[in-house]
Amino acid sequence: MKITVSGGRGFIGSHLVAALQEAGHAVSVLSRTANNSGNVPTFVWDPGAGLPPAESLAGADAVINLAGEPVAHRWTDEVKKKIRDSRVLGTRHLVEGMGQAAVKVLVSASATGYYGDRGEEELTEQSARGDSFLSGVCEEWEAAADGAAKLGIRVVKLRTGMVLGAGGGALARLVTAFKTKMGGKLGSGTQWMPWIHMADLTGIFRFAAEGEISGVLNGTAPNAVRNDAFTDALGEALGEPTKISIPEFALKMMFGEMSEVMLASQHVIPENTLASGYQFQFSEVGAAVRSALGVSK
Ligand SMILES: NC(=O)c1ccc[n+]([C@@H]2O[C@H](COP(=O)([O-])OP(=O)(O)OC[C@H]3O[C@@H](n4cnc5c(N)ncnc54)[C@H](OP(=O)(O)O)[C@@H]3O)[C@@H](O)[C@H]2O)c1
Repeated sequence: MKITVSGGRGFIGSHLVAALQEAGHAVSVLSRTANNSGNVPTFVWDPGAGLPPAESLAGADAVINLAGEPVAHRWTDEVKKKIRDSRVLGTRHLVEGMGQAAVKVLVSASATGYYGDRGEEELTEQSARGDSFLSGVCEEWEAAADGAAKLGIRVVKLRTGMVLGAGGGALARLVTAFKTKMGGKLGSGTQWMPWIHMADLTGIFRFAAEGEISGVLNGTAPNAVRNDAFTDALGEALGEPTKISIPEFALKMMFGEMSEVMLASQHVIPENTLASGYQFQFSEVGAAVRSALGVSK
């Protein structure tokens, strides 16, 4: 297939582009900056500014939509606007551009932030949205993607949990904290943390693009864990076991409203994803963390 990936140079995007190429697909990326290095054709597009260039979508069978302002920094009003607009306006622009081409499939990122802070409740793709800032952004982001369904395009929305992969994301930040003896459980540590190994996330993106499914899939491993169990698995993999807890008030002071990303409890079950027939490679967090860090048992 010919596949265009927005945000294809980011953490997930760079792994995904490699996986799609490995599977024999012809991939190009949309990025805000031109860069002719490497073997991936790049089209310049600023998601918030307008439609992508027509040639980036001409002849494409599928579009995978990953672009968005990073979430893991302090949320000023300006940052919140960028987080929302880069996703919601960006996806609307992308869909409008797809309507003028003959693209058949849109696989669009979303996040488990959709569910907000839900304590012990088990959350499937059928569960209602939460009431946090990110819940609202995800709802609007998914609604923008659904605009493509109205044009007869098959749409899959992937509500992704914390991605465990080499070279970036939350794991890289946590490793730095552990190496400086600042790693520890976050708040009470009892909050549920949805996670997924990069190989499975890229696998699900590919499965969704190649297959026939539509609707929402939770991009999370079958066995969600609580933050304290994840912290133990990471400490063990790094050979840096920790008994430290970082109190909730300290996280709120350091990160403000963004601390919800670390403290919200989301017991997410990938019900639709399992029912779709996707076979997970990593369902146990210890093995996933070791693989992402490249350490043997
Ligand atoms: N990583 C995770 O654990 C995780 C979990 C849940 C959901 N997600 C979602 O999955 C998507 C990809 O995540 P990622 O970790 O790969 O993120 P990333 O590394 O930050 O990559 C996202 C890409 O979006 C583009 N971008 C950044 N700021 C932008 C802005 N203000 N306006 C328009 N484009 C902008 C950048 O591409 P250019 O600089 O090339 O334009 C960037 O490479 C994101 O939408 C994220 O919310 C990620």
